[in-house]
Amino acid sequence: EKGILGVPWLICGLILPSLISLAHPSLRLLGCNHFRGAAVNYSTLLLEDGPGLLYVGAREAIYKLDTSNISDTSISLSLEWAASAEQKRQCLSKGKNNQTECYNHVRFLDRYNDTHMYTCGTHAFRPRCAYIDVARFTFVRFEEGKEKCPYDPTKGYTGFIIDGEMYSASQYEFRNIPDIRRNFPFPNLRTDNSPTSWLLESDFVGSALLRESINSSIGDDDKLYFFFTERNTEPTAYSSQTKVARVARVCKGDIGGQRSLQRKWTSFLKARLVCAIPDYELYFNVLRNIFVVEGSSVHDSVLYGVFGLEWRNVKMSAVCQYSFRDVQTAFDGPYMELQDTKWREYTGTVPEPRPGSCITDQHRALLINSSRDLPDNVLNFTQRHALMSRQIQPVGGRPVLLQRSADYTKIAVKQVVGLDGRVYDMLFIGTDEGWLHRAVKISDRVHIIEELQLFEEKQPINNMVISQKQNRIYVSAASGVVQVPLSSCERYTSCYDCVFARDPFCGWDGRACTTVVFNNRHLHIRLPQSKSFVMHRTRAVMAGDDMLLQCEIRSNLATPHWTLNGQVMLGYGVDFGYRTGTDGLLIIGAQNQQSGHYRCYAVENGVWVPVRSYMVRVQPVPPPASHLSGKQLLSPPPALLPFRPQLQTYRHMEAMYISLVAVLGGLCLVLTVVLLYVSFCARNSPSARKYSQQALSITTATERKRSSHFELKTISSHCNGRTEGRSRAMSRDGEFLQIIPADIQTTPSKEPPPAPPLPMPPPLPASEYANGLSATLPSVLRKMNGNSYVLLRQTDSEMTSPLYHSFTEELNRILEKRKHTQLDIQPDESSV
Ligand SMILES: *[C@@H]1O[C@H](CO)[C@@H](O)[C@H](O)[C@H]1NC(C)=O
Ligand SMILES: *[C@@H]1O[C@H](CO)[C@@H](O)[C@H](O)[C@H]1NC(C)=O
Ligand SMILES: *[C@@H]1O[C@H](CO)[C@@H](O)[C@H](O)[C@H]1NC(C)=O
Ligand SMILES: *[C@@H]1O[C@H](CO)[C@@H](O)[C@H](O)[C@H]1NC(C)=O
Ligand SMILES: *[C@@H]1O[C@H](CO)[C@@H](O)[C@H](O)[C@H]1NC(C)=O
Repeated sequence: EKGILGVPWLICGLILPSLISLAHPSLRLLGCNHFRGAAVNYSTLLLEDGPGLLYVGAREAIYKLDTSNISDTSISLSLEWAASAEQKRQCLSKGKNNQTECYNHVRFLDRYNDTHMYTCGTHAFRPRCAYIDVARFTFVRFEEGKEKCPYDPTKGYTGFIIDGEMYSASQYEFRNIPDIRRNFPFPNLRTDNSPTSWLLESDFVGSALLRESINSSIGDDDKLYFFFTERNTEPTAYSSQTKVARVARVCKGDIGGQRSLQRKWTSFLKARLVCAIPDYELYFNVLRNIFVVEGSSVHDSVLYGVFGLEWRNVKMSAVCQYSFRDVQTAFDGPYMELQDTKWREYTGTVPEPRPGSCITDQHRALLINSSRDLPDNVLNFTQRHALMSRQIQPVGGRPVLLQRSADYTKIAVKQVVGLDGRVYDMLFIGTDEGWLHRAVKISDRVHIIEELQLFEEKQPINNMVISQKQNRIYVSAASGVVQVPLSSCERYTSCYDCVFARDPFCGWDGRACTTVVFNNRHLHIRLPQSKSFVMHRTRAVMAGDDMLLQCEIRSNLATPHWTLNGQVMLGYGVDFGYRTGTDGLLIIGAQNQQSGHYRCYAVENGVWVPVRSYMVRVQPVPPPASHLSGKQLLSPPPALLPFRPQLQTYRHMEAMYISLVAVLGGLCLVLTVVLLYVSFCARNSPSARKYSQQALSITTATERKRSSHFELKTISSHCNGRTEGRSRAMSRDGEFLQIIPADIQTTPSKEPPPAPPLPMPPPLPASEYANGLSATLPSVLRKMNGNSYVLLRQTDSEMTSPLYHSFTEELNRILEKRKHTQLDIQPDESSV
């Protein structure tokens, strides 16, 4: 046994009960070393694993840090590189911001030769580059940089030096001209900006060199890949798609054409990277970052990309994985052609040798020894057919990870050998708010093992680099650099947690969870003694009240199962007077016969691991005046709700329900009313709450865990009038309900799209209750500002409806509008 998943609430060395606690001022990132010099905007990282040095490019400074401890300022060196006052004045006069833009932001830092490094900075909107003597850590020569570095510190930029050649891609100069360049040595090359522009407002996020010449049977060349998002001009199914993610390729040996395409790439081709879930109309068109995992051969190499949606107001990210085999196939496939302002697949004859290909043995046989020997007709074709028709689909046809509550900005991947001898891809993904998500890919899905908050202030992760030698990752952001161990197995305190965390780095050695040294040593996994892990509690509840029996399952892959007096509790839903969720069992309107001994188990792969045990006593109902004074008792139709002799509702919901009851001619939908809010907070549990895997639910601000439902998130800093002091960020927003998108199953639903969801729970015919369906019963009531909110259940398949988004958008809009609205005297449909 070995594994992944769970323990999502960890911060380097700190086990926290919930994400909300992270805002606590005493937060410390234990086990992580920080570096924070005098400068800000740490954006460029160059790791030299051999000597154990980390070079960091920041705003107006370059640092040389010792990787043994980057916090240790006694061994770090800094090199100041500020733009002159005169330069800054000119920058200001160009209309640029002297608080952010009119500085020298170091954008490029790479090894030039054995003794020197090369660096470029924006230099207050007048880029400069320089050589650095590595041994003395000083500048030796400065030079003009506008051909190599963007003016704007926020413009996408990627580049590297390899074999003494510098390649870069960005939007250059004052006019932001997108270009992919070979900057040196001579002859410099760039992209063609003829009428059928090769690049359109391209925002570059990454690049890679693949040594395809090694062991090539066709005498192929090495290739450079550039990744970016650009303006879309191709036809798409949805006109709202204005952006497209791309990969472009050029050959390293390209030296441009002789007459046509002089000092331009003769091998430039580009293709679309698709990352989408069409069934949910989710198109991740904005590529934010990529990471190439090189395999034993180029074709075995894979690429991970993090993507976002075009809509700025929706926080959602996806990770897609691509195979370089598929990239290759696209570049070997048909071309696109611009015909009457429309892009169509080119079906005519393709000249020989194949346009856009690197010089291979086939060319050499035709006495074409370099790109300069290519015939004009081939070059002219290349110029007009840089776009490929075939799109590059992700492996498995869908994202490997969908993230609903964070915008991912960066990704890094390390392959590790698990205890089972298999190779796993460990993913390290940075968010726009300074978090690092650690995840592992198992079969075709990526599971998040833990989420670490690396920076106290919210700020996007700028850059990440993995040290293979030290098993560490270096992460930079505006305020500093953090050194994080790739895994922290010691956080898992039990064998169960260690094994079910599914972290391939971690193994149970019989006493502790330790980082596994990958050798052939056989590790024994002993099953834990059940007793030692079970927490026992005694709980009492008034008859008719609701109660939450908590049972937090650490592994996201385990499912909770409950027993009552040794009997497995079957059924799922309010018909049975209880509901189970990933954090506990909710007893709804407790009855005497529900007293007894409850046990919660985490079940995974058929293994039942006891987690919690409760002795529950249901007490008789006291006189109504004392306890139920604010409530109305209703008798439901017994046929519908055999297990629910009583229903309660808040008085001000009465009008709504009575009118519903009237309209339905007695087929009442009204169900449970739960003083959940009170019981939640009174039980002092900050943990995430979930009641239904297929629900549109109202949850507290603590809710951030993965679940497969859409949620209405209550943003509130108060709990029962008590200030919990939990979420600083959230309390700033005031109190309102916010829709946070759910962890949609990426497997397309086979079912036809159902009717659009209604803003009110629609009535269900009685026969459906007989089938055990209770999909639309309001069951949890939540009060806020005097308004009440019910929990609506919604099946997953409803998310396939095209109306789904318009529904959530509409709901969001209404809730936003009602944010400051007080008690609704006369509730109507829009009240829900
Ligand atoms: C630089 O850092 C500051 C905060 O320290 C931030 O406001 C600004 O946006 C950053 N600029 C860039 C170009 O990243
Ligand atoms: C790293 O250096 C800092 C500052 O000198 C020191 O406080 C810290 O204990 C060191 N950490 C380690 C792991 O050596
Ligand atoms: C930025 O320019 C304004 C004048 O436009 C000036 O008052 C301010 O001091 C400048 N700030 C910096 C940091 O140079
Ligand atoms: C490296 O490049 C620098 C700058 O061009 C040059 O002065 C130096 O001699 C080079 N070193 C080696 C070992 O080639
Ligand atoms: C290409 O190289 C071959 C041998 O290396 C040579 O014989 C031939 O003349 C070259 N062709 C051109 C066009 O330079």
